[in-house]
Parts: sequence; structure tokens; C-alpha cells
Amino acid sequence: MENKKHIVFLTGAGISAESGISTFRDADGLWEKYPVKQVASIQGYREDRELVIDFYNSMRKNLANVEPNDGHKLIVELEKHFKVSVITQNVDDLHERAGSSDITHLHGELLKITSTRNPNDEKCIRKVNYDHEIKIGDKAADGSQERPFIVWFGEAVPNLKKAAEICSTADIFVIVGTSLAVYPAAMLVFETQVDTPVYIIDPNDVPVNGFVATHIKKGASEGMKELLERLLNVENQ
Ligand code: OAD
Repeated sequence: MENKKHIVFLTGAGISAESGISTFRDADGLWEKYPVKQVASIQGYREDRELVIDFYNSMRKNLANVEPNDGHKLIVELEKHFKVSVITQNVDDLHERAGSSDITHLHGELLKITSTRNPNDEKCIRKVNYDHEIKIGDKAADGSQERPFIVWFGEAVPNLKKAAEICSTADIFVIVGTSLAVYPAAMLVFETQVDTPVYIIDPNDVPVNGFVATHIKKGASEGMKELLERLLNVENQ
């Protein structure tokens, strides 16, 4: 067991696209419909708490209507052969529902809520159901307004150090469905060792910012099938 190679996945909105969740920056993506500064920045929250809370209330509700796709499921399949860690920028729970055993959320989770004053204080973070609606006036354990447990632009990424450590132990690093437009997540590939092979699964071009990667230019499900074939062929040789 201990000798299993370690595969680390960095996933983004593209892996959940085939489940019916909009990406952010593609044509018709979420940030075309909702200004990112309004609903995904700490400044936007300061300006209009209710609008931001309602946006995430409706995203949370929508989660109940979607299912993990083959992209999520094939990552779990790899656990038969490899030690697998998933670092995700996604706030959905589709990696959890697919059955991945080691998941690190970089940008928070829709199914958790926290406090406005101390968003990273464990005592203030609690799990909620898909139909939970945060209301203005709901108080967290520290007495401040409850808010979504989402890392907004303008806030530090609490799991960054943990994610960087995971990346440094990767034998294989796979980037699935992220435009690598958002930092510090886009920097994590540089935490891998120089000889760690890097794969990208994405139907579109992705800026590689100076690292070398094998690009499987397909959607998440088809791309993951191809990756599995490639990796398992190498394993069996
Ligand atoms: P983006 O919307 O920026 O990028 C989505 C990526 O998925 C693009 O590279 C697409 O080409 C790719 N894609 C589209 N369809 C796909 C499919 N079927 N299979 C695989 N890939 C596909 O989303 P992220 O990179 O995840 O943060 O965005 C990063 C962060 O920006 C998000 O976590 C969010 C956002 O602002 C916060 O809200 C804090």
C-alpha cells in the first residue's frame, strides 16, 4: 500500500461542467451573468450582504439537482492503483459524492457556513443542507452575521499551505478544468518537484505559465478515460 504512487489532482469548474454547473470564465459563464466583484469579493459583501448571501443560497439549492460525472468518478477509480489527493477550487460537493477520500477545498464549500467576523474559526464553521438559506440576522457562534464559507477575492486562502505540501509530494500532477486564471491556486503546480510529470485535461487552451505539461485536449470525462488508459498502461509495463 505504502508504495503506491501519489497522484495529485488540481480541479476547477470545468470538471463539474458536465454535471451541469456553469464554469466562471467560459462564454456564458457565471461571471458574465453576475459581476465577480459584486458576488465573489469581500468588497462586494461589504457593500451588499443580502445580494451576496442570496447568490450563494441559490447556488447551494442548485447543488441538490446535479450529480457527479465520469470525470469525478474516474478520479475515485484511480484510488485502486494510486494514492490520490484532490485539491479543488470548486465549492460544490461532487468530489465528495463521487467518493474521493482525500479532498482539500481551496475556495470554500457551499455546504458550510461561517461567521462574518471570524470566517476561518472552526468554532464558527458549521455544515448545512442543500436547502439551507442564510438570512440577514442569522448569527454565528461569535455573534456576527452568518455568511457563506467561500473564499472571496480579497481574502487569504486558508488551505494554501496544506495544498502546497500535498503538491510537493506528487509523483504525478493532473490539472482538470481550470483556466489557471486565479492565484494562488494557479501557482500550485510550481510546488511540485521538477521531474513530476504534469497533465492538463481541458478542451481549451490553458496558459501554462512556464511549466511543461501533456495536454489531453478533451472534456473531463473523456479526458479522464484517456488519462486512466495512459497511466494504467505505464503501470502494467
Ligand atoms: P474557469 O471558469 O476560470 O475555467 C474553467 C475551465 O474549465 C476552462 O479552462 C475551460 O476551458 C474548462 N472546461 C470547460 N468545459 C470543460 C469540460 N467539459 N471538461 C473539462 N474542462 C472544461 O474556472 P476555474 O478555473 O475553476 O473562485 O476558476 C477558478 C476560480 O475562479 C473559482 O474557484 C472561482 C472563480 O472566481 C471563487 O469564486 C473564489
